[in-house]
This record gives sequence, C-alpha cells and structure tokens, in this order.
Amino acid sequence: MSKLEIINLEVEVDGKRILNGVSLSVSSGEVVAIMGPNGSGKTTLFLTIAGHPRYRVVNGDIRLDGESIINLYPEERVQKGILLALQNPTPVPEVRLSTLIVAMLNKRAGKHITDPPTPQMLMQMNKLVTELGLKPEHLSRGVHAGFSGGESKRAEVLQLLMYKPRVAMLDEPDSGLDVDGIAVIGRAIAQMAQEGSAVLVTTHHAEILHYVRPSRVIVMSGGRVVYEGDESVVKEIESMGYEKFFEKVNAK
Ligand SMILES: Nc1ncnc2c1ncn2[C@@H]1O[C@H](COP(=O)(O)OP(=O)(O)O)[C@@H](O)[C@H]1O
Ligand SMILES: [Mg+2]
Repeated sequence: MSKLEIINLEVEVDGKRILNGVSLSVSSGEVVAIMGPNGSGKTTLFLTIAGHPRYRVVNGDIRLDGESIINLYPEERVQKGILLALQNPTPVPEVRLSTLIVAMLNKRAGKHITDPPTPQMLMQMNKLVTELGLKPEHLSRGVHAGFSGGESKRAEVLQLLMYKPRVAMLDEPDSGLDVDGIAVIGRAIAQMAQEGSAVLVTTHHAEILHYVRPSRVIVMSGGRVVYEGDESVVKEIESMGYEKFFEKVNAK
C-alpha cells in the first residue's frame, strides 16, 4: 500500500503565489479526479509533486507513506515511484520510446540503463502497444517524435502501465482524444489503480471518468480545493459551468 498526502501546500512560481493551501490524499487502488477551470492550479500541483525546480514550496508538505519528499530531486521522486504524464510532453527524437521504457525499468531494478530488455518486458510492451491502439513501429520511433496528439497520450499511458508507479499523475490525458481514444485511456487509468497505483488525474470532462470510475472528485479554484465529492459533480459542472457551480457551492 502506498499513500500520497498533500498537506496545506502553498507554492510560488517565479515569486508568484499559485497554490494557496491544497490538501488531498490518494492511496493505492484509488483514482482521485481533479477538476477546476483553466488557471486554477492543477498542472502546478502536479509539477510541484514531481519536483519541478521552478515550483517552490513555501508552506505545507508532500508525503509519500509518511515521509516528506519536498527536498528530493525530480529523479529521486521518480525512483520513489512518482510518475507524471504531462499534458503536452516534449518530444525527445533522439531516444526511442522502447529504449526509454527499458531504461526506466532497468534503473529501478538496479541494472545498467542500457542493459537489454528481458523477454517479459518485450512481451508486456508489445501486448500493451496493441491494447492501447499503438503500432509496434511507435516503439522504435523517437519519444513523441511526430506522434499525433492521440498517439502521444497513448505513449505516456504505455510508460505508466509498464512502470506501474506507486503514484501515477496524468494531466488532462483525454484532451484532444477521439471517443475511442478516451475509452482506451480511461480503461487504462482504471487498470493502473487495479494494479495498485495511487492515481491522480485532471480532466474537464465526464466522459473519461465513465471508464475511470474515480473514488473521489476534487474541484480546485484559485489554487485551493473548493469542493470534494463523488462523480456526480462532474456532470453538474459540465451542465452548469464552473462559475455557476462555484456560486452554488458558496451559497451553501
Ligand atoms: N511559470 C509560471 N510563471 C508564472 N505564472 C505561472 C507559471 N506557471 C503557472 N502560472 C500561473 O499559475 C496559475 C495556475 O496555472 P496551472 O497550474 O497551469 O493551472 P491549470 O492547470 O489548472 O489550468 C495560472 O494563473 C498560471 O498563469
Ligand atoms: Mg493544466
């Protein structure tokens, strides 16, 4: 069992306060969905958890199984099993997708990163490629090099499914996906939780959550958590919009 706890987190970027006291937690097997209008701090929260150097924790704590991780480098957080799938990942044309995945798995296993993949790794990777609707040729292409939006999302999810992180964070994994893509990615996210990851996922849409079945839905605004509830809140926000939803919450 793993548990990620965000405790009263206040974060500055380039001297500008972005998060104003965010608290939430997620455990193995759970998916917590995070919603919130553009600019509410969702991506900032994920980049802070991942350890991005520009995001300075001015107050609060991030704990993995009770241990603070805020002084760890990003690579050390990956080693601890915290992985982030970015909304718009940067292409790394000079590294093959399969090479990256094998290197990550080798590193965690304490092997040399350039060691050849085990037959099990290859079998699993090929199986997942097909399930995710990618082609074997994607594995031998540069990471995200010339990938379509949908292919990039699938490639990010492939890395998470192969790595089986303790904490998986996915930032708008459904943005720009067609209906089939949403189903594939949504099911894959549910699978991550079933396989024991603690999952955080941001989205604006109810559709993907239909497949994901989140344990909780958190709504952020202005760098704060303003609402925590179940899936029904997603449909409510979709139909009335954030502004009206916040008016309703505040009136209570
Ligand atoms: N590097 C940065 N420099 C200045 N402001 C930033 C930076 N990164 C994020 N912000 C600001 O922080 C706020 C939250 O952004 P973000 O976390 O990307 O929101 P969301 O992902 O919810 O849309 C926005 O107002 C954004 O402009
Ligand atoms: Mg964002």
